[in-house]
Amino acid sequence: MTSPATTDTPFVIAVDGPAASGKGTIARALADHYGLPHMDTGLLYRAVALNLFRFGGDPGNELEAVRACDLSVISFDDDELRSEIVGSYASRISAYPAVRAHLLERQRSFAAQAGGAVLDGRDIGTVIAPDATAKLFVTAAPEVRATRRLAELIKRGMNVHYDEVLADIHARDERDSGRDAAPLVQADDALLLDTSDMDVDQAIAAALALVEARLAAVTR
Ligand code: CDP
Repeated sequence: MTSPATTDTPFVIAVDGPAASGKGTIARALADHYGLPHMDTGLLYRAVALNLFRFGGDPGNELEAVRACDLSVISFDDDELRSEIVGSYASRISAYPAVRAHLLERQRSFAAQAGGAVLDGRDIGTVIAPDATAKLFVTAAPEVRATRRLAELIKRGMNVHYDEVLADIHARDERDSGRDAAPLVQADDALLLDTSDMDVDQAIAAALALVEARLAAVTR
């Protein structure tokens, strides 16, 4: 299907939500459906984290994290971007306002491209694209998210336990929601999608229905 973007209002879909909520899968499916480019903004934070990790920097030190913001040396295909250690570094360095400032322009210009776009992350609907056509806030119970993340990690051959994964999910939620800079929060005009009792296909269908309802409302 082609995107309903017009020349004066690019069709932008913002998908936010906590760790392992399924927002990435949903965002990719929406991008495919509407023929829009997609940006996983978490990868930008992961890229800074991987840079920092590789030069032995301390994620507790804001200046060192800022020095890791040169992303020209990172390949976005690098498998290590998806590792747990990089995810945990990313969750820490993303709290620094200076790191967020470095990554802001890249995300805003992606969101502002003429044909429209889908972006997923934590602050898309609140900071990056506050005027997005449709905003989804995708969530699920922490236990459900931990089960999904565990399955992903086991599939990648990692030896981890449910309790550790659940503790990590709680820690990330707390850091993402508790930070001062662009905390994870549902935008006032975002549509809530709780995927706790849904499989992937059901979650995608529900997301699509919400976006379609939003489009019908704005074009009425
Ligand atoms: O899904 P998961 O939490 O593993 O990670 P992600 O979406 O790849 O994001 C990695 C980290 O970057 C998260 O823990 C967030 O703290 C941070 N992030 C952010 O602060 N703002 C965004 N727009 C995207 C990610």
